[in-house]
Amino acid sequence: MPSGAQSNPQPNLILAGFMGTGKSALGRQLAKRWRRSFVDTDDLVEKLAGASIADIFAQQGEEHFRALERKVVEELLPETDAIIACGGGLVVQPGMIELVRAKGIVVTLFASVDTILRRTAGNSRRPLLKGEDPEAKIRELMKKREQAYMKAGIAVYTDGRSLQQLCVIVERVYEREARAVLKARSKKAD
Ligand code: S3P
Repeated sequence: MPSGAQSNPQPNLILAGFMGTGKSALGRQLAKRWRRSFVDTDDLVEKLAGASIADIFAQQGEEHFRALERKVVEELLPETDAIIACGGGLVVQPGMIELVRAKGIVVTLFASVDTILRRTAGNSRRPLLKGEDPEAKIRELMKKREQAYMKAGIAVYTDGRSLQQLCVIVERVYEREARAVLKARSKKAD
């Protein structure tokens, strides 16, 4: 199991994916197992703005929220040894996939519309799903974003898998990718 507090800095694990795919739950769990710090870009955006996500959307609009997300990625993310959960739309903005991939190993979580609908019901941090037909909104956004999610990172499907199972799967993916990153790093140093 990858652990924290190593002398050799370890690449971040970055979790991307649609709202309700379980990025924060899985990120927290892995952070506990690996003894690493957990960072949620939504928390950093709220801290940076001094306002809640609901208020940022309501008062300044989505564009402003996206600009804050970009600033968080450019300036506030730890360079190594962290597990980072991205807000669902973060990697969808132009240029963000490249920025995010430069910050660590990216895994994109996927879930069915039913699962997403169940997990996102009545959450004020998700103003994009407010309204009469959240299911239609999920389908519409997912269709627009799917390509970006696939391009952003290694896909992991979460339906029918427990948190425990997902930890094991993502751990394996991370270890394989981290080995490749560290090997490339040591080759460069030679
Ligand atoms: C958003 C996802 C949310 C939050 C904001 C916008 C999106 O984060 O950043 O409501 O555009 O998909 P979660 O994916 O953590 O719910």
